[in-house]
Amino acid sequence: MYQFPKGFLWGAAASATQTEGAAQVAGKAKNIWDYWFEIEPDRFHNRIGPALTSDFYKQFKEDIQRMKAVHFNSFRTSISWSRLLPDGKNVNKEAVHFYNEVFDQLLLEDIKPIVNLFHFDMPLIMQEKGGWESLEVVEAFNHYAKTAFELFGDKVKKWTTFNEPIVPVEMGYLNHYHYPCVVDMKRAVTVAYNSMLASAKVIKTYRQLNQTGEIGIILNLTPSYPRSDSQGDIEAANMADLFFNRSFLDPSVLGEYPTELVEVLRKHDLLPEVNQGDLELIKENTVDYLGVNYYQPRRVKEKEAPSNTDSIMPESFFDPYIWPERRMNPYRGWEIYEKGLYDIAINIKDNYGNIPWYVAENGMGVENEERFKDENGMIQDDYRIEFYEEHLKWLHKGIEAGSNCFGYHVWTFMDNWSWLNAYKNRYGLYRVDLETQQRYLKKSGQWFGDIAKQNGFK
Ligand code: BG6
Repeated sequence: MYQFPKGFLWGAAASATQTEGAAQVAGKAKNIWDYWFEIEPDRFHNRIGPALTSDFYKQFKEDIQRMKAVHFNSFRTSISWSRLLPDGKNVNKEAVHFYNEVFDQLLLEDIKPIVNLFHFDMPLIMQEKGGWESLEVVEAFNHYAKTAFELFGDKVKKWTTFNEPIVPVEMGYLNHYHYPCVVDMKRAVTVAYNSMLASAKVIKTYRQLNQTGEIGIILNLTPSYPRSDSQGDIEAANMADLFFNRSFLDPSVLGEYPTELVEVLRKHDLLPEVNQGDLELIKENTVDYLGVNYYQPRRVKEKEAPSNTDSIMPESFFDPYIWPERRMNPYRGWEIYEKGLYDIAINIKDNYGNIPWYVAENGMGVENEERFKDENGMIQDDYRIEFYEEHLKWLHKGIEAGSNCFGYHVWTFMDNWSWLNAYKNRYGLYRVDLETQQRYLKKSGQWFGDIAKQNGFK
């Protein structure tokens, strides 16, 4: 029996933009996704934009019943900044009503809300001021967070500042993949740094308000594995780890940036503007706990043709490595490596003060999942059950080794909209029929309900 610690949190993760719908009604202003879809709909899979999501805005009561039916005791989602403060300053009463109802309903069902403040959804008016490049936006984010704490802090006892702050950096400022589609390492570094400043500022605000809960951050950690024990390969993995993990993990948990990262950035004249008091702010306002999203590892090798030394993108320091033994998710194309979760658990225990942490997302996306429907219309997603089970076994091993993990959240509760991929990859415990907005339990949903109820599995 894989029994998990008493009080272990079992649930799913989601985000406002990906589930709520009601994108431009009920007082909500546009965020960058609403805007981008308006101007470039072809970028989005099947031209499905953020207005057509899973209708949680209307169906949340029934959806929370569905969570209860699969024995969630926790649900992590986010508040939409552009819904709560459409002009950046004044509160939208309809939003307050909606979120109050959601949190009340969750509490009524004994489902703890874990609420995140920023999940890639920069309000358009804030992007027009420069997004995370602008310190004015950092201040505005702090105002939004303070408002949310004051409004909902009596109900929400677990907050997080950001979900995967590296994603806007990587996708929006390095890879031309998310709006504003910039490719500029210097600007990317500023965005990353200002996100960390914003996170620390908000943590400080939370504590100044004497709130009685805890505040953390959610990071997508990708353990970096070298091709071999050669010095070059190990150095390559170290660089990947520095850029993609430690650049957020270290300031968030330890309160300081890794010296090696600072040195590399300095060498390439990429250091961001650091104002007086910034580093103290980061040092003094580390997280109470950590959320970890884990999907796949990163495998790297020494660069075959060493790049010219002026090259400044993270990828100039390593090459991707295709591990011959790797197993792929055949339905989505990401590597499946369950032991990565154990390695994360041990890393947190050994190098990050054994801070309390939880799995904030772990999941398996599947294209054309309808093909796995049985004659009763149920998706027979045994592949997903196996995926979860194997990850949970490694997580359990990490906990047995002393890692302080307090929960496991699948991505995701019901199939939801995912940015440019829209509904291409389905992840839910419930299938959503987009035309009727009906929800149908999948086999993995049943399975999840059993393990959540028993707090473990055989
Ligand atoms: C995570 C994000 O990185 O991956 C989610 O936090 C996202 O917002 C999820 O939906 C799955 O991504 P994708 O591209 O497979 O749909």
